[in-house]
Amino acid sequence: MIQSRSNNPKKSAAPFRRHEPGTQPDYYYPAYRATRLRAPSQPLIFLPHTLSEVTGPVFGHSRVHPDDRDLTLQHSSEPLGERIIVRGRVLDGDGHPVSNSLIEIWQANAAGRYAHVRDDHPAPLDPNFTGTGRTLTDNDGFYSFVTIKPGAYPWRNHDNAWRPAHIHFSLFGPAFVTRLITQMYFPGDPLFAYDPILQSISDERARQRLVSKFDLETTKPEWALGYRFDIVLRGRESTPFE
Ligand SMILES: [Fe+2]
Repeated sequence: MIQSRSNNPKKSAAPFRRHEPGTQPDYYYPAYRATRLRAPSQPLIFLPHTLSEVTGPVFGHSRVHPDDRDLTLQHSSEPLGERIIVRGRVLDGDGHPVSNSLIEIWQANAAGRYAHVRDDHPAPLDPNFTGTGRTLTDNDGFYSFVTIKPGAYPWRNHDNAWRPAHIHFSLFGPAFVTRLITQMYFPGDPLFAYDPILQSISDERARQRLVSKFDLETTKPEWALGYRFDIVLRGRESTPFE
């Protein structure tokens, strides 16, 4: 089913406010090798939005199903690994909840392997884990996923390069062009200091906003540990986005 998020795009538009220096990743960060090629080397060209970009379909052709938020239910058995709950809230720059926002996640399995043709890391695939999920925020801006804790994986960016365990997040705002992508990390990971993707955000407090917090309130007894990850779309406390 095709759904459109807003009948009045002008009403939902908010003025752009520049980020504080150092709170978002640098486009060009030589230690993160891919940025050497993809960072703009020429001045940016202004492309005005048309009505179709603002009012076009956002959620694709199929309805978001309640089970789409549980990555452990997609196959005949449960995936291997540590079952976890990731829960949080999406907020705007004034601290107001953002409801009905589509959140999509993707991640490696517990052994640090993606179910993707281009991932040749010699770690086992899990036939019971695809590693993708999606959900919509509720009226108070809350979302939650059930999944397994992803493993660290090597990525050949530099000698002995390993990514800290992370979950990729994509958020859609009121239009297809208002998509934000980021990564959530787990507290206390020893790989943080060696990861140029995380370190490309120079502000330490901003980096910490990408690290989820262990949350006893989200943790379910006898079942799964809970992690809290709030996402702030703009303003001083904005989550760093890619
Ligand atoms: Fe990744």
